[in-house]
Amino acid sequence: MYTNIQARKSDPIFALNEMFRHDKRSKKIDLGVGVFKNDHDITPLMKSVELAEKQVINNQNTKVYKGLNGNEEFNQAISKLLIESSSVRLRSAIIQTTGGSGALRLISDYIYSINPSTTVWISNPSYANHYPILNDAGLKVTHYNYINAETKMADVNAIISSLMLAKRGDIILLHGCCHNPTGADLSIKQWSILSDFMIRKGLIPFIDIAYHGLGDGLEEDAAGLNIILNQFDEVFITTSCSKNFGLYAERIGAAIIVCKHYYSVQYVRKHMANLVLNSYAMPPNHGAQIVSQILNDCSLKKLWESELYEMRNRIIENRFLFYSSLKTQDILMIYLLY
Ligand SMILES: Cc1ncc(COP(=O)(O)O)c(C=O)c1O
Repeated sequence: MYTNIQARKSDPIFALNEMFRHDKRSKKIDLGVGVFKNDHDITPLMKSVELAEKQVINNQNTKVYKGLNGNEEFNQAISKLLIESSSVRLRSAIIQTTGGSGALRLISDYIYSINPSTTVWISNPSYANHYPILNDAGLKVTHYNYINAETKMADVNAIISSLMLAKRGDIILLHGCCHNPTGADLSIKQWSILSDFMIRKGLIPFIDIAYHGLGDGLEEDAAGLNIILNQFDEVFITTSCSKNFGLYAERIGAAIIVCKHYYSVQYVRKHMANLVLNSYAMPPNHGAQIVSQILNDCSLKKLWESELYEMRNRIIENRFLFYSSLKTQDILMIYLLY
């Protein structure tokens, strides 16, 4: 009864991975999963992570549960990294999650539990897992236009004209930095225009920022998010430490709900914690300890920032090389998830 089922359509991300693995051609490029590789085609362990991990292990004397909210030092450190205003941080309910995906699911479950008829708008195209996660949580998902076909840039007028159809209370999911699959980000001016429009229309922002620091820099990448935070009473944020700390397999991220009032934080957090209890119960602690060790230690943080800078530069160089190679058609096969 429970096992006599039809084969499911493969997940596009993993199917693409498989196709790439089985392709014997040497001139192939994997543009599917967002995983950093160095010159030797290896996803390296960052030096700052290696040092922090040693310190964590040396100082560790228990593996006891950390609780439903996860590691509180991590929660504070990650919110400080993203949110400039201390008063906004005080209005933030933060829960450590199982990666950025876990954060997306937790926020989706939270929204559904409060208002099951909520519509969430995502960009066309968006991160391949946005639709499945939001949809699976029971939310209605619809798309807004994002890219200008001629200029290949983010088109704020196109976004706004799509969102004219949105109704008060609809949620708008925006890519915080450098991971919209079009490769185009909103400029600071576009963030401000969109933020003003959304305020006027009564829309609620949801910012997914999964590659913080890998676009233009830590401050620059969070600039759009902070424009939103300075204007809105309520904001949903999801973040991940998979890419910027190279902690992919440790499954470490955070879900943040900025509340209108400081006193609501405890209730919102309890509600989030209850959703956590009803699903996976507790997030893993190891990655969270590493991240908080790095962010709370000046020299480790400096080292991490310099490694992030190097990774960022390599990505920029590779993009340029990729672009020039495409122009000379020196690439035989591209695996691209859109
Ligand atoms: C835009 C976006 N959000 C969320 C995630 C999920 O991150 P994680 O691997 O930490 O679950 C990814 C991963 O690639 C992503 O690209």
